[in-house]
Amino acid sequence: MNRFRQGLARLWLSLQRPILRRRVGRLVLERIDGVGLVVLPEVFNPVIFRSSALLAHTVATSPLAAPTDGRSAAPGEGEARALDMGTGTGVVAIFAARRGFHTVGVDINPEAVRCARINALVNHVEDRVEFRQGNLFDPVKGEHFQLVLFNPPFFRGAPRHALDAAWRGTDVMERFAAGLPGALAPEGRALIVLSTDGDAEAMLRALREQGLAVAVATRRDYGNEIMTIYAVSRREE
Ligand SMILES: C[S@@+](CC[C@H](N)C(=O)[O-])C[C@H]1O[C@@H](n2cnc3c(N)ncnc32)[C@H](O)[C@@H]1O
Repeated sequence: MNRFRQGLARLWLSLQRPILRRRVGRLVLERIDGVGLVVLPEVFNPVIFRSSALLAHTVATSPLAAPTDGRSAAPGEGEARALDMGTGTGVVAIFAARRGFHTVGVDINPEAVRCARINALVNHVEDRVEFRQGNLFDPVKGEHFQLVLFNPPFFRGAPRHALDAAWRGTDVMERFAAGLPGALAPEGRALIVLSTDGDAEAMLRALREQGLAVAVATRRDYGNEIMTIYAVSRREE
């Protein structure tokens, strides 16, 4: 990362921070790529942190997030299913539903589940998306998905309150990696966003320890940090 760009990006962020901070911890309306979102006070704001928009945009546009040929969002046999782990406002789940997946969003934070349900209604995808409260894969035991999406908490530590679980987790990365093979359909793929801020290496190591193949799908340099979307599957792609 170029030092001058890094310095400029940090300066720009420090100027923006007081304005952005006013949008945390209160009910606000946001927009990502034309999708309007209600953000409840105890829910991760997907506009303040760039990982959500990068993952949502990738889901909307990448061939890696296209439903497998012949599968559709119609319920039943041959249905294309996506799992949005740690759904927050439901933004990524909404993009997956718009892409043609029947999508399940899971979050440990009950306020996130309420918020995501509101946003599914606001965006007219409530017939293609459902939200369940629970810890990682617990609410989807025995179910399989063609696409698993995760914008995880980037940092280590015990969350101090519900909203803090969006940033911090003790062993979320390792438990997610351990549960992923059981949730992926045979031809399934996960798209995971990680940043140079945070413990990305731990997630990548944990995924490889499960025998999963990890490849870079998209990478974006924001000056102060680089975000990467990794494509994870059973076999090299
Ligand atoms: C970085 S936020 C991402 C939210 C949303 N997907 C987005 O991109 O805007 C991480 C989310 O994971 C949730 N989360 C953290 N630990 C979890 C766990 N053990 N099980 C399920 N969800 C969890 C948090 O509550 C939070 O909503």
